This record gives sequence, C-alpha cells and structure tokens, in this order.
Amino acid sequence: MADTAHDVIVVGGGPGGYAAALYGTAAGLDVGLVEMGRVGGTCLHVGCIPAKELLETASVFRTVARAGQFGVEAGPPALNWTTTMARKQQVIDRLTGGLSSLLNRRKVTVYEGTGSLRPGPAVAVAGRSGERTTLEAGAVILATGSTPRTIAGFEVDGTVVMTSDELLSVEALPRSAAVIGGGAIGCEFASMMGDLGVEVTVLEALPRILAGCDADVASVVQRSFRKRGITVRAGVKVHGHQPRPDGSGAVVSYGDGQTADVDVVVVSVGRRPRSGSLGLEATGAAVDERGFVAVDGRCRTGEAGVWAVGDLIDTPQLAHTAFAEGMLAVKDILGEDPEPLDRLGTPWCIYCHPEVAFAGHTEESAAAAGFEVVTSSHRHVGNGRAMIVGDTEGVVKVIAERCPDGTGGRVLGVHMAGPWVTEQLGQGYLAVNWEATVDEVAAFIQPHPTLSELFGESVLSLTGRSLHG
Ligand code: NAI
Repeated sequence: MADTAHDVIVVGGGPGGYAAALYGTAAGLDVGLVEMGRVGGTCLHVGCIPAKELLETASVFRTVARAGQFGVEAGPPALNWTTTMARKQQVIDRLTGGLSSLLNRRKVTVYEGTGSLRPGPAVAVAGRSGERTTLEAGAVILATGSTPRTIAGFEVDGTVVMTSDELLSVEALPRSAAVIGGGAIGCEFASMMGDLGVEVTVLEALPRILAGCDADVASVVQRSFRKRGITVRAGVKVHGHQPRPDGSGAVVSYGDGQTADVDVVVVSVGRRPRSGSLGLEATGAAVDERGFVAVDGRCRTGEAGVWAVGDLIDTPQLAHTAFAEGMLAVKDILGEDPEPLDRLGTPWCIYCHPEVAFAGHTEESAAAAGFEVVTSSHRHVGNGRAMIVGDTEGVVKVIAERCPDGTGGRVLGVHMAGPWVTEQLGQGYLAVNWEATVDEVAAFIQPHPTLSELFGESVLSLTGRSLHG
C-alpha cells in the first residue's frame, strides 16, 4: 500500500524534471517531485548558470582592460576572486529560491530523497535520514540527469585533477591549466580562464575544437583563442599525468612525447547519464551500453507509464532540450499526441568568447544529407555595431538549399560566432524550424545599426542580390 499517490511523479528536479512538474500542474495534474539535493539540477548548481556567470566576469575584465580605447581611463583590472565567487553563488541562490517558491506556489509536492522506480509504476524514496516512502503514480517521469565523464589516467581528486563540478567552486584561480576536451565545456572554461590570466592549454582528441560546429565558426573561436594566448593542441591523445613532487600540480603527457606542466587539469570529455541507481533492471525500461535510458520519439521508456527526459536520454545534453522533453512527456501523458522533437532543429549556444550559436545543418552535414547547398557568410569586421562595441571577431553563415538558378531556397542552417550571438539566434532558429525560404526571410527589415544586420545581409545575398557584400 502506497503512502501517498500522485497523477505524475517526477524523479529529479533539474530542468527536465522541474519543467515537467510545472507544466504538469499548469495542465491540472497533481505532481510529486523527488529530489536528492537542491532543486535546479546541474544547470543551476554546477552547469549553465555558474559557468555563464563566471564567463560574464571574464567579459567585464576584458572590457575594463580595453576601456582606454574608449577614452575611459580605468587602469589595469585586478580580479578579486572571492567577490567573483560570492556573486556567482548569489545568482545561484536567488534562482534556486525562486524555483523552490514557484514549485511551492504551483502545489508541486517535493520529496527530499533518492528515488528509484518500482513496478506499478511507483517510486521508492530513500530519505536523507534513512526513512523510506513509496509513492504510487499514474505516470513516472525519470529526469535524473548526468555527471561528468572521466578518463583513465586522470582520476578526479578535486584539487589538481577536476571536472566542471570542482572548477566552478575553486578557492583561487590556478596560474596554469590543461583542459582535456575542446567541446562546449572545455572551450567555455578555456575562454574564461584565459581571459582572467590563466595560462591555458586545450588538449583535444579530434582534429579541431568544437567539432560539432560548422568549421568556419569553430575557426573564428580557434583564431581568437590563439590571439589571446590560449594554446590549442588538436588531434592529440592524452596519456596520463604525473603529480609534481610537492603535489601542487601535475605534468600531463600527450601526443608524441609532449608534456604540459600545469597547476590544474580540467577534464571536460562529455557527461554520463545518471541511470545506474534508478532500479531499472527490475523493470521493462532498457538502458543502452553508454547508460542512456532508451526512449521513443515521445520519451516513452520500455516500461508502461514511465517516461525519461533530459541528460538521461540520448538527445542533446542541453537544459532547453530537457525543458522541451519534460513538456513533451506531460503532453503525451495527457494523451495529446505530441509531435516528437526535431533534433536537428535544436538551438545551440556556447558562451565562450567569441560566442557561438547555431541551429540546423552545418555546410558539411547538409551536403552529407544529400542537399545541394549554397552558403553566404558575413563577417563582423564590416558591421557598424561591431565596430562601435569594439568586438569585430565573428561570422554569420547561412546555409540554404540551392535553387537551379544558383540562389538560395529553404534555409537549412544558421551558424554564428561573435559578440552576443547567443542572443541573436532567434531569427535563425525560427527560419530553420519554420522551413522558411531565403526570399521570405529577406523581406523582413533588420534594425540599424545592429549586429543582427549580418544575418539579414547573409540571407539577402542568397536571393541573388545584396547591399553591402
Ligand atoms: P562535448 O561532447 O561537447 O565535448 C567533449 C570533447 O572532448 C569532444 O570534443 C571530444 O572529442 C573530446 N574528448 C573526448 N575524450 C577525449 C580525450 N580522451 N582526450 C582529449 N579529448 C577528448 O562534452 P563537454 O564539453 O564535456 O560537455 C558535455 C555536454 O554538455 C555536451 O553535450 C555539451 O554540449 C553540453 N554542454 C553544452 C553547453 C552549451 O551549449 N553552452 C555548455 C556546457 C555543456
């Protein structure tokens, strides 16, 4: 006999879980949410929010360092890391407090403890002080997220070898760091530390950093890193590390006998789903060889009445994908026959400097998918607003289906690097996902002077006529 019952029990209070809970109550469902730590998940506590907050510190530092160019004599900037960390924590705490009150206002019942799945479906909750409760559910949504992946030869000790979990709370910035993995996390940390004076070496196994991004966009970031003194070694294997005799750092060996003597090693080689302790073995929910819970297009697992969302399933490991999946699962529970999400249409935003944002096909992936493509790129160096803000490193590239006359048809992808592109992706995202043509998008007016004119110009050029280039 269950202690208590709800229409939906959500296991995990990160973006996937809390979105499902809030959306569920908005649709009139009675929802219980099981969380073993604080609500907010990786995103709020050791992911998106603290990482972007520290990147903003780096941005302020850069701005102050070049204030003299604008005639503002501020003197060389100096970093007070204690204040930096306190501000980061303040942002986290305010958001966590806001989320807790919202869940409370929406009458989501939050259970503190670790949840695991039971047939029924039901969820067993092991509380922090050992008490056990069983919750009976009409439906269960699993949303327990992921943890950083580690690699052999680099066991995390939290002081010399660390992952994003530890780096986001270090007591002092190191003087030097090796970042293993040049994906989203690696590039954001390399950029942040590099701007704040840390000597950074990025070690990436693939031939280039940001391998999932369009090559032209990735090369803008790589060039900027080089100019700012951030070393990138791509196409190299890392072999292991030898602690310095005094324990203050380590010598990382990589490539063909090369070494990097650094204070800290940051391992950012992907994230692993947290599916191991959910008790799925005793149910019909299958887990693949990498630990992802297997789901169909509507996030249904193999166990009747059980859905899984967010980093737990093999879809882009992004907070906003988790939000969308949480809502999709609720719609499916309500029998609303929701459309599966289109993975290719996902908006991606990476907050290193220069920022990266994109949606849809890269030039390479469009060609691989069999499209005849035509592209147009415009660089920030010629844009008035970019000159005004003094940030002219960047490119906007639009990829379209090629019409017989050589002009562009449907917009297949929009890829950007440069100042605030994470805030400018909206138009490109809509163009790709609405399957708009370049003629339709080019008919819209872009305000002047703005950075978004680069998108307008790129689309206009694909119509076969252009204004500035
Ligand atoms: P990732 O998969 O984006 O990048 C990992 C990188 O490490 C890849 O380039 C891979 O080739 C490289 N790598 C793997 N093993 C290696 C090895 N032994 N030696 C050297 N390089 C190696 O994973 P990341 O950056 O850890 O991020 C985890 C997840 O979180 C990703 O899905 C990422 O997209 C997401 N995320 C997204 C952010 C954003 O969109 N702003 C920010 C942070 C994370």
